[in-house]
Amino acid sequence: MSRVLLFTGKGGVGKTTLAAATAASLAAHGRKALVVSTDPAHSLGDALDVRLGASPSEVDTADGLFACQIDPRGLVDEAWGELRGHLRTVLAGAGVDELDAEELTVLPGVEELLALAEVRRLASSGPWEVVVVDCGPTAETLRLLSLPEAFAGYLERLFPTHRRVVRGLLAGVAGTGTVEKWDATADALSRLAERLDALRGMLADPSSCSVRLVLTPERVVAAETRRTLTALALQGIRVDSVIANRLVPSPGSARGAAATWLRTRRHEQDAVLAELTGIGEIRTVDHRASEPVGVPALLEVASQLYGSEDPLPGAAVRDSLLEVSGSGRGLDARYSLRIALPLADDTELDLARVGDDLALTVDGRRRLVALPSLLRRCIVTGAEMDSGGVTVGFRPDPSLWR
Ligand SMILES: Nc1ncnc2c1ncn2[C@@H]1O[C@H](COP(=O)(O)OP(=O)(O)O)[C@@H](O)[C@H]1O
Ligand SMILES: [Mg+2]
Repeated sequence: MSRVLLFTGKGGVGKTTLAAATAASLAAHGRKALVVSTDPAHSLGDALDVRLGASPSEVDTADGLFACQIDPRGLVDEAWGELRGHLRTVLAGAGVDELDAEELTVLPGVEELLALAEVRRLASSGPWEVVVVDCGPTAETLRLLSLPEAFAGYLERLFPTHRRVVRGLLAGVAGTGTVEKWDATADALSRLAERLDALRGMLADPSSCSVRLVLTPERVVAAETRRTLTALALQGIRVDSVIANRLVPSPGSARGAAATWLRTRRHEQDAVLAELTGIGEIRTVDHRASEPVGVPALLEVASQLYGSEDPLPGAAVRDSLLEVSGSGRGLDARYSLRIALPLADDTELDLARVGDDLALTVDGRRRLVALPSLLRRCIVTGAEMDSGGVTVGFRPDPSLWR
């Protein structure tokens, strides 16, 4: 399995450029690297200044660098078209009318999911040490990263595990031809479910996959960056670097209108970066006078981004999300659970105890956090939130404590 680096961020911030620069630099360091675009707005070929196809080919200006752009539409037609057809017939046979059947079979985010599943396939079967992915814009990608889970739930509802019961029902109402189609559909769906499961496994495994979040230093992005980091943390996806792109050069002590413009701009950009200091190290890339296009220009960007370091490891690995501390003894003990999450000031947070889990809902996204065994025997006493996360207080539950 190759290491997978996912580049994401808002539209236009420089995802494609930095993904391509990182891959070019990895190849220059002697690592066999593949850079692949899953963003339907493909511009990877433009950045590398080569023509790209749907299957990997070596970039002739850089040894050991391979590139391709996945065509999600084609994948959908290939993998999903037939399935949708089956599904529609089966549902129609079961008495679900045409329109409902159409609605039921338009599954959300199938294109993006299949594109990522294709990335996983390339990473697990290809000869590359690293696969660098030029993902779509943040919001899309986030939705997509949470999809395997949402999707599994959806499949479960549509195709209950007790599929034999459904099969029996179908035989009663729709005849045997439909039953065969149902079997074929159910098989195809369980294969799809397996692929999605494998994808989720890859995304949530910090040793095989991590995200590099790209931003430009503008006021509006600060809060959004925290939100993105939180959402990724909630999904168990590791962010190994935050990169601020297009930092304007400081004019030093130069005078004149242009220098004043640069000074003001840089001052504002520095202020935005200062707002983000809580989240850890932020790497920066200058706004260059000309667009970095082609391998030599991309390597210059990479050398500013990574210095003389190997681009692969990323910054320090984020600490574990959970930390327990406590004081006192027996029933008088008091514990606190720290859940590290970068939170914006206006984040809406909701917390509930659900059996042995804490259900944490942040801006509408829910995540179950499994409680350490000690805390399962405790009662929640309260919770406090700050910009670095949430602290939940616990005391022993007398009925469970010995
Ligand atoms: N550091 C930089 N200096 C100058 N131009 C840049 C820089 N980073 C990106 N660009 C240019 O900005 C445009 C958008 O960058 P791109 O990487 O395509 O963004 P995204 O993939 O996030 O939409 C491109 O024309 C690219 O060449
Ligand atoms: Mg792009």
